Amino acid sequence: MFKSEKLAHSIEQLIKHGQWKTHEKLPSLREQAQLSGYSLITVLNAYQILEAKGLIYAKDKSGYYVVKAKSILQHPLEMQHSKNIQINSKVFHYLKSIQHSDILPFGSAFPNPELLYNQKFMQLLAQHAKRKHSYLNSDNMPPGNFALRQLIANRYILQGVQCDTDDIVITSGALNALNLALEALTQSGDFILLQDTVFYGAWQAAERLGLEVVTIPTHPDHGFDIVAFEQALKQYPIKVCWLMLNVQNPVGYTVSNSIKQKIANLLHEYQVYLIEDDVYAELSYGKHKPLPMTYFDQHQRVLHCSTFSKTLGMGTRVGWIHAHQFSDAIQHLQLMSTVSVSPLVQNALVDFLSHHYYEKHLRHLRQRLAQYKQVFYDYLAQHLPEDCHIHFFTSGYFLWIELAPNCDSFKIYESLLKQNIGIAPSVLFRLEKNTQNYIRLNCSFEWNDTIEVAMQQLCVCIQQQNASSSFTLN
Ligand SMILES: Cc1ncc(COP(=O)(O)O)c(C=O)c1O
Repeated sequence: MFKSEKLAHSIEQLIKHGQWKTHEKLPSLREQAQLSGYSLITVLNAYQILEAKGLIYAKDKSGYYVVKAKSILQHPLEMQHSKNIQINSKVFHYLKSIQHSDILPFGSAFPNPELLYNQKFMQLLAQHAKRKHSYLNSDNMPPGNFALRQLIANRYILQGVQCDTDDIVITSGALNALNLALEALTQSGDFILLQDTVFYGAWQAAERLGLEVVTIPTHPDHGFDIVAFEQALKQYPIKVCWLMLNVQNPVGYTVSNSIKQKIANLLHEYQVYLIEDDVYAELSYGKHKPLPMTYFDQHQRVLHCSTFSKTLGMGTRVGWIHAHQFSDAIQHLQLMSTVSVSPLVQNALVDFLSHHYYEKHLRHLRQRLAQYKQVFYDYLAQHLPEDCHIHFFTSGYFLWIELAPNCDSFKIYESLLKQNIGIAPSVLFRLEKNTQNYIRLNCSFEWNDTIEVAMQQLCVCIQQQNASSSFTLN
């Protein structure tokens, strides 16, 4: 264990045993260094580990504070094996239900578009729209625009990941990348491994391809349950894992580097491939973005997928896959389905990234998301019923709200929809029927009166539902 991990572990124990109360300030970096005898940088790393685990949060220039000092996550489920997944029609109806512009978009998977549509990027698009050569498709057909792939590869290299431009394939968003990867690696009836609470796109892909799914539980402290992971690899003929380890959707945790290293070792030992869904890594508020699994993988077992949808808008429809030896297979599938991504958008992205506008945009975006989410958290921490727990992580724009154990979040969703308020109920993310007491809330909006009224309505609705579920229990 690194020194910083040791220190983080000790502080974590103190938080769990109630040494510090909710929202109480932790010792400053300097004070903690004096108290513990570790260097400032070790203390900073330890605080960042605790931040990524959702145990503490940083406030601008003021220091680090404790998130709600209750147990962090329930250990909800055991390993499970499911055949015949059926979720597609549920997701379809849900997405349709929240689409209307009258519905407040707290159920949306995408950040507030006002934060994403960057003016400079729009100018570059307009400039390219006037140049005929920007439409020429031949340079932008699979595997995609060379300069764009080079810029993406450089971003990996800067993180210490080995990456060649030829390993990158541009796709029509991350969902396309993830689906192409799964299609290239599996056949109907194969076993795949998922976390028990995941982005619905993973369940949808499993249903579409006729795959059997083994799930591992969400770990109460670490997010990822490495013991259950090894047990699942031992017990089932898993071919591929589809995992989200950074800023996990919907829960929000980021898995530590030491667990990521163990995952990489196990992938090699059991000869299993990993499709990594890493669409939110840029939205981690810390100084360093979390490392992708490709950093730890020495044996080309990881196919890493990401996108510009969460940073420049879903309309961009540009994603990519770091596909290594599967680049050809992915392109074959692409040429039979989505073909190429808009050359115009690819060309504008090249200019946007190569002039460093993107970094500036990301800094601004993270700052806003951090501010907006904090306001939602502060309000809800004060107004939600006592038996609710908010899972708060210093990244992204979702809050994962745990309601009283028998509360049905789908009923809350249905009731709020009648009041034009959208939320995402847990039935979209986990199959287990008896634990549907969670809500994902998109908090990427600047607080105003309309939002406050909507959050009041949410709290009232949860209160009523919690009360009726405890009544049913009795
Ligand atoms: C976790 C996760 N993965 C993948 C996607 C798909 O992203 P894209 O719009 O780039 O296809 C989303 C979008 O909601 C997501 O939340």
